[in-house]
Amino acid sequence: MKTSLAIPVTKVQKSKLAETDFSNLVFGKTISDHMFVADYKNGEWTDLRIVPYGPLQLNPSNAALHYGQSIFEGLKAYKNEAGEALIFRADANWKRMNESAVRMCMPEIPEEVFMEGLSQLIDLDREWIPSAKGSSLYIRPYMFATDDYIGVKPSDTYKFIIFTCPVGNYYSKPVSVKVETKYTRAVQGGTGSAKTAGNYAASLYPALQAQKAGYDQLLWTDGKTHQFIEESGTMNVMFKIHGKIITAPIHSDTILKGITRDSVLKLAKDWGEEVEERFLSVSELKSALEDGSIEEAFGTGTAATIAHIRLIHIDGKDYELPEKPADAFSHRVLAELDGIKYGTKEDPHGWVMKF
Ligand code: COI
Repeated sequence: MKTSLAIPVTKVQKSKLAETDFSNLVFGKTISDHMFVADYKNGEWTDLRIVPYGPLQLNPSNAALHYGQSIFEGLKAYKNEAGEALIFRADANWKRMNESAVRMCMPEIPEEVFMEGLSQLIDLDREWIPSAKGSSLYIRPYMFATDDYIGVKPSDTYKFIIFTCPVGNYYSKPVSVKVETKYTRAVQGGTGSAKTAGNYAASLYPALQAQKAGYDQLLWTDGKTHQFIEESGTMNVMFKIHGKIITAPIHSDTILKGITRDSVLKLAKDWGEEVEERFLSVSELKSALEDGSIEEAFGTGTAATIAHIRLIHIDGKDYELPEKPADAFSHRVLAELDGIKYGTKEDPHGWVMKF
């Protein structure tokens, strides 16, 4: 692979590959051998390195642990039949990470640092990319504050790390979701559009209540009126109603700019599907479930790609969605995305970086 940044590498003494059961991958449990690390100090990213994955040393007064200056990304690498590594839309993750950084008063990461750190790490750990269908190497870039200081202010120092995990399917079957009208994921003017740790922490309690009530995930509504659907769990969400694909717009700062969301919408438009980026009201969703005009509902995200929704709970009532035909949009778009990612289909948008 052609590289432009010389990143020093310290390799593991013994790889964990041989003791890893690739036929039984639980999302996020298995971590590959190495990680990329860079430190931010005196206004610049320095000390770029690839080292064995392992514990970090932090002081108890670490600023991120107290005030949550912590952001992350998620993307995936795949293996094609020739054994090459394919990374999907890494440039989009780099851009979104920097948007999160700006919102959270954190330093932006130069493209070269992100892309070279990522590609040199994947190149070194390419044996960790699973080849079975449905599996991939989940890549987790993240950045957090490292000042040892508990006054409330943006940190002066940060760490940027990338590590990877071989993963299988995130959801093994279609999910049930409950429309949430008490708790809120994001509010206007808040941090909902940033991929920052606190958004996920705040979602845990409401999600747990829904799970205790027997549902897999939540359908989040807007924080002000609770009348409009925003996202589902940790994913963007889409509905096909009266033949139109409807999803919340990303101009709102309550919606994460999902890269899978964007890819699905681009393919939908390529195929001449009618797409409406607008807020769908809970009452419109309820009517569509009652009169049968809803054809499909699904979450979109990096981890799950497409999470088919089989049931929606609204106001004390469970609504089953109709059985999806084999040629349903969500099945076709998943197959197309998988084809592009695994290199078996044409990549007209130039989404895949191969090496
Ligand atoms: C994603 O699917 O994009 C995610 O961020 C999921 C992750 C929080 C596990």
